[in-house]
Amino acid sequence: MVMTIRHRKVESSDVPPAATALAKPGFLEFFAGSGLVSQALSPYFSLLWANDICPKKADVFRVNHGAEKFHLGSVTRVDGRELPVAALSWASFPCQDLSLAGKSAGIQASRSGLVWEWLRVMDEIPEAAPILVAENVVGLMAWDGGSQYRQLHEAMTERGYRVGAFVLDAVRWLPQSRPRVFVVGVHKTAAPPTELLDDGPNWLHSKAVIKAAQRLDDWLWWKMPEPAPRRLSLSGVIDWKAPCLDEAISKKTLALIPAEHMRRLQESGLKVAPGYKRIRSGRQVLELRFDDVAGCLRTPQGGSSRQYLVIRRRGNWRARLLTVKETARLMGAPETYRLPGKYNDGYKAMGDAVAVPAVAYLAEHLLTKLATAS
Ligand SMILES: C[S@@+](CC[C@H](N)C(=O)[O-])C[C@H]1O[C@@H](n2cnc3c(N)ncnc32)[C@H](O)[C@@H]1O
Repeated sequence: MVMTIRHRKVESSDVPPAATALAKPGFLEFFAGSGLVSQALSPYFSLLWANDICPKKADVFRVNHGAEKFHLGSVTRVDGRELPVAALSWASFPCQDLSLAGKSAGIQASRSGLVWEWLRVMDEIPEAAPILVAENVVGLMAWDGGSQYRQLHEAMTERGYRVGAFVLDAVRWLPQSRPRVFVVGVHKTAAPPTELLDDGPNWLHSKAVIKAAQRLDDWLWWKMPEPAPRRLSLSGVIDWKAPCLDEAISKKTLALIPAEHMRRLQESGLKVAPGYKRIRSGRQVLELRFDDVAGCLRTPQGGSSRQYLVIRRRGNWRARLLTVKETARLMGAPETYRLPGKYNDGYKAMGDAVAVPAVAYLAEHLLTKLATAS
């Protein structure tokens, strides 16, 4: 049984000014995984309830955020009538059916289609959350000219929300390329402040977003200030003391690097380059990048989904996998964030997550302002 905790607006006459400043609007987190969204939102919003089906991720969530608000189990079994009323409902729903790299069965398929369960629960809540956020991979907008996104957009507008989507790439804050789509809906009973709305696309809107928006009648062009340039580089977050693969395996791994990439690496002056194993023309290769930024972390399912580092050690190149600590840094998790379990559990917890500074930026520059207005 879920306890009902109602969020009500605090009247300035009820409480002294210091307490008013402390009262944070509440949020619900669906598909909460290892809790990085909660981590990022917690300075701005107060967690009322979170849910995920994965016991290993639940361990990560609970050890970092406490067990009280977390409910392990399928979203299909959640009864909205038992949930607390909240200002914000967040859903980072499964991406497997929308990933451009995956089989892309679409937003009606069994995994990404769990987004409809989120909306079903929202329908059951006695008081609609004024703000909804859905987060997913860019495939949500890109494939099929935005037809997958359109279904979500229309489902939210039918429920009385005014909606717009945009892309935030974690690389704006962290040395990891990780573009993600954020769909933000505000209930029509709450007027968004004009400073949050643009009259056309801006830095937040990719070509795919603009294309999808052109086909929709009701669309909000959200506006936020552009963040300052990133200060962190991959060389700045890796653990230089972490052991490399033993010499023989390292040599075998380095032999997979295409000659052209090896030449670029030597010429780059870099001391570290990240890369993924891929199959090219029927042959396994280790392809590197040379911009001091990691590729997007993925969920480790096979050898090709874990990211390698090629590192210069005493004049020689050696190879190793990213450590779990490094994956956490690449997601912007605090150094104190705990990741219990084995190597693959920690890597998966981070590979599936949402980058902390991207969510924090969104919370600071858009969501808190919407919450104040609603
Ligand atoms: C993209 S991940 C979200 C990760 C999370 N926001 C984070 O920062 O760690 C999608 C999550 O959906 C969860 N999930 C999959 N099926 C589910 C279901 N039926 N009910 C609840 N959660 C589910 C997965 O365990 C996974 O953690």
